[in-house]
Amino acid sequence: MKKRKIVYGVLTCVSILFILYALVKNYLIDPGAVGFLSHKTGLKRELNLPVWLNVMYVHVAFACMAMASGLVNFSNRFFEKSRRFHRINGYVYIVSVLLVVLTSGYMAPYATGGKISSMGFNVLNMTWLFISITALIQIKKKRMIRHRNWMIRSYAFCFTNMSIHLITSLFHQGFGFVYITSYTLGIYGSIALLLVIPEIIIRTNRKEKVSG
Ligand code: HEM
Repeated sequence: MKKRKIVYGVLTCVSILFILYALVKNYLIDPGAVGFLSHKTGLKRELNLPVWLNVMYVHVAFACMAMASGLVNFSNRFFEKSRRFHRINGYVYIVSVLLVVLTSGYMAPYATGGKISSMGFNVLNMTWLFISITALIQIKKKRMIRHRNWMIRSYAFCFTNMSIHLITSLFHQGFGFVYITSYTLGIYGSIALLLVIPEIIIRTNRKEKVSG
C-alpha cells in the first residue's frame, strides 16, 4: 500500500512538471515552434505553417488534458469519493485521446525524418487508439482488473512526447548521431518502451497481490 502511494506520488510529480513544461514551452517560450521546425528540411509536402501551428496548439492542449485526467483517475482517493466523477473524467480522457490522435494524424505526414517517421507516428496512433478503446470496452463489460491494466497500457502513451525527446537527446547529444536519425530512433524507441514498461508494472502488481 505504502509502495503504491510512493509510485503514485512520483507519477504525479513527473506528470505535473511535464504538463507545465509543455504548456510554458509551446505557448509562451517558443509558440512558433521555431526550434523544432528548424530540423524539418527537404519535406516532400509543403507545410502550411499557420494551420500546422494551430493544430499543434490543439494537440498540446488535449495531450496535457489526457495526461491530467488519466492521472486523476488512477487515484484511489478520487475513485472512492465518487464513481460518477471517475466515469465523467474517464470520458474526458477518451475524448482527449481521440483529439490527440486526430491532430497527430494531421501532423504525421510532415514528421521530422520523412516517411519512416510518419509511419512510426501512424503506428503509435493506431496502437494508442486500440488500447484506449479496449480499456473502455473492458469496463463496459464490468471487468475491473482488465480495465485497470488496459488503462495502465493506455496512460503510458501520454509520455510519448517526453520519451521521444529523451531518446532523441540521448542519440543526438549523447552518441553524436544527426538530429533527424536520432528523432526517428526516438519514435520507434518510444513505441517499444511505452509498450514494455506497462507490462512490467502490470506483472509487478500481479506478483505483489499473490505474495502479499
Ligand atoms: C502528453 C503527450 C504529448 C504531448 C505533450 C505532445 C506534444 C507535442 C508537441 C509539443 C509537438 C511539437 C513538436 C515537439 O516539440 O515535439 C508534438 C508533435 C507531434 N506529436 Fe505529440 N504530444 C504528445 C503525445 C503524442 C502522441 C500520443 C502522439 C501519437 C499518437 C503524438 C503525435 C505527434 C506528431 C505526429 C507530431 C508531429 C511530429 C513532427 O512534426 O515531427 N503526440 N507533440
